[in-house]
Amino acid sequence: MDMETLRRSCGACDKCRLAETRTNVVFGVGSEDADLMFVGEAPGENEDLSGIPFVGRAGKLLDSYLTAVGIDRDSVYIANILKCRPPKNRDPLPDEEDACMPYLREQVRLIRPKIIVCLGRIAAMRLIKPDFKITQEHGVWFRRGSFEMSAFYHPSALLRDPRKREDMLNDMQALAEKLKTL
Ligand code: URA
Repeated sequence: MDMETLRRSCGACDKCRLAETRTNVVFGVGSEDADLMFVGEAPGENEDLSGIPFVGRAGKLLDSYLTAVGIDRDSVYIANILKCRPPKNRDPLPDEEDACMPYLREQVRLIRPKIIVCLGRIAAMRLIKPDFKITQEHGVWFRRGSFEMSAFYHPSALLRDPRKREDMLNDMQALAEKLKTL
């Protein structure tokens, strides 16, 4: 399956209850031959309205880190575990993640990134390990098959707790260095 076919099938998805409340499916954005892929949790209000991941306040903060360390947002791929917004931004339910994961798996298969960075605990628990502890393990690198994987703080967590921002900058700087060695 190619990316356009996948995008179209995802756009018509009704595999879970979120199909009833979404405005737009938020499939993913960026370069289809990216070395680096970011995976967040689920669309928020601005993403649901625009159909583009990480465009709200959290997204703007993510952009500022990318700019700070010299990573071009257009050169990476950005997606989420869930393609549809959960009502009132509640946490994804397990059956919603199960229903949605095949889309992300197929995106990863098509893009074949070398590095996958989870944004926040929810993505890390799903993609790296179920008992991932974001406070202790953010910025730690894990090898999973052909992928180097890590999880960083979710930008929304940085909006709530600015004391985490220094750690985020360090993690982003290490990521930028790693990208240069590919
Ligand atoms: N938070 C996420 O996890 N993903 C988005 O796309 C926006 C906010």
